[in-house]
Amino acid sequence: MEVERVQAIVSSSLAKDNIPLEFVRPEDEQPAITTFHGPIPDIPVIDFNHPDQDHIIHLIANASRDWGIFQVVNHGIPFHLIQKLQQVGKEFFDLPQEEKEVYAKPPGALTLEGYGSKIGKDVNGKKNWADHLFHKIWPASCINHQFWPKNPPPYRAVNEEYAQEVRKVVDKLFKWLSMGLGLEADVLKQGVGGEEIEYMMKINYYPPCPRPDLTLGVTSHTDLSAMTVLVPNEVPGLQVFKDGHWIDAKYIPGALIIHIGDQIEILSNGKYKAVLHRTTVDKEKTRMSWPVFLEPPGEFVVGPLPQLLDPQIPPKYKPKKFKDYSYCKFHKLP
Ligand code: OGA
Ligand code: NI
Repeated sequence: MEVERVQAIVSSSLAKDNIPLEFVRPEDEQPAITTFHGPIPDIPVIDFNHPDQDHIIHLIANASRDWGIFQVVNHGIPFHLIQKLQQVGKEFFDLPQEEKEVYAKPPGALTLEGYGSKIGKDVNGKKNWADHLFHKIWPASCINHQFWPKNPPPYRAVNEEYAQEVRKVVDKLFKWLSMGLGLEADVLKQGVGGEEIEYMMKINYYPPCPRPDLTLGVTSHTDLSAMTVLVPNEVPGLQVFKDGHWIDAKYIPGALIIHIGDQIEILSNGKYKAVLHRTTVDKEKTRMSWPVFLEPPGEFVVGPLPQLLDPQIPPKYKPKKFKDYSYCKFHKLP
């Protein structure tokens, strides 16, 4: 069956002032109605260059408890590498449609990897105003190069370099998140798979939309990962749900946006919260983002850390293999 890419809908003359009904969200989801514009604090911004490590740990722990999301500046990934990552991703999406379809997610495949648009619709029958490309970037043993674009030619080298840099940041994050719970530095990383943690790169491509007031790029969700490390482009669109309001994330050039995902919420027995988030789209500009999802191997069991439990603090979550957790979430099962 031919799948209609959102990018293709936009470049055909179909949608000039209107969008197909399947993209029109019910009012309680429409960004024009539900975005909060009053005074509200920004998502916390944390400087990894701060000389006092205890201070960084304190900020990370508070942000992960109160927000489930924070931005990191001075994280150590060179700005020019982030720009190259964005450039090669943009060049891939600028290729003719047929060239992108070579990387299409195989129908019925068990893996998420490949080029695509969200298969099927939401429970309410609505579609996302977005296309994407998924491929793993680490560890080497789980990489499927068939899903890595050969064009533009530097795509592969840039993504390999980014994988190495992002790993360094991730190791620091796991360490400081563990210490923020009063635990040994390696506990959280080991609790989601240690060196076997899989790094799943996603590129989100949100084409310009004639009616950004009515639709969403991705609908509200928490990430099923342990943690997500995201680079956005300069077009705003990420929103987080905080104290009952949908608020915009500020764009900080070169910053990384760190999302706490479901697996860390589970490991920490709810001390750290997976952030509820969604994206809006722009009338004139293409928004793009590059989240890397850090996921346990499928067979790996994640449950609340025993160190955090006692007779007064019972476990709030049942231990589950990551693949079973994903299956249940995807199929909306308990
Ligand atoms: C996602 C996501 C946010 C963004 O792909 O899971 O939440 O800013 N993306 O594009
Ligand atoms: Ni997400």
